[in-house]
Amino acid sequence: MKTIAILTSGGDAPGMNAAIRAASRIARHNGIKLLGSRHGFRGLVDAVIIEIDRESVSNIIHRGGSILRSSRCDKFETPKGREKALATCDRHGIEGLILIGGDGTMRGAVDLENEGGPPSVGLPGTIDNDIAGTDHTIGFDTAVNAALEAIDRIRDTAETMERMFFIETMGRHSGAIALAAGIGGGSNVVVVPETKTDIEGIAKKLQSDRDSGAQSLIVVVAEGDESGGAYKLAEKIRKITGMDSRVTVLGHIQRGGNPTANDRIIATCLGVQAVEDLMDGRHGHMLGWKCEKFVRIPFREAVTDTALPDEIVRHAATMLT
Ligand code: F6P
Repeated sequence: MKTIAILTSGGDAPGMNAAIRAASRIARHNGIKLLGSRHGFRGLVDAVIIEIDRESVSNIIHRGGSILRSSRCDKFETPKGREKALATCDRHGIEGLILIGGDGTMRGAVDLENEGGPPSVGLPGTIDNDIAGTDHTIGFDTAVNAALEAIDRIRDTAETMERMFFIETMGRHSGAIALAAGIGGGSNVVVVPETKTDIEGIAKKLQSDRDSGAQSLIVVVAEGDESGGAYKLAEKIRKITGMDSRVTVLGHIQRGGNPTANDRIIATCLGVQAVEDLMDGRHGHMLGWKCEKFVRIPFREAVTDTALPDEIVRHAATMLT
């Protein structure tokens, strides 16, 4: 194997750079040229391919974002776009492809392999932690810690002013960040898109927490929750309880920043393994991280619906009792 390409696609996630760096180091060690597709699949469609040399990956292990840039590429969704992507792979002699991203990226990997593209290995890279078969996705830990730090800060003012806060985390379809940050931040209630949101029950719980002496109250809301997000939920609760509140939407703050140790380590191990898998002729799967070990998940399984871990959901539910 002489040439491998790597890309980062979809919403960026801290730790993607660590994975690129690791893949580059191990490829170099084995005499393999590593190419990078700029802006994810867009670089394949528009033939914007760069060579990743030793220098381009030095001093990036600690940086959020992706040196290759990322995008959500509509053109790649069309047969014409994929045809162009395949032509780019041929032209550059790409014999293996490493794709880092979320479920949309893994879907793209399936299409590309099915249509005669190079052997591919995926790495789970999204702050949402919503890919089947892996305990953690690259970037999740960093995002949770960013949300947690924000909750801790808000708690100071909430406590002092004796206020209720609704804090919105990212996650259009996933409550993973909200749950982890909500539990870790000692919030009173967490609401997530994966479960029904009982507005009356939440109002009752908040009223009862206040009646029993908790003057500061924290509600963590995943952006995709059926209540419509933090502003809407705050208004619904105000209408029922008459309790005033403040709202903070954390937004893209959760996507940036230096990756945590965990994200760097997982990304590095997965980046190395991806190159080794391609060298060994193993492909058609996403590499996951389960119980501190690699797992190989066929692309098709990686894009199936995910469920939140039972234990964690149960823990969150106890907040409502
Ligand atoms: O990458 C995942 C994610 O951050 C989701 O949590 C969020 O809903 C979405 O991306 C936001 O996407 P964009 O940055 O394209 O608005």
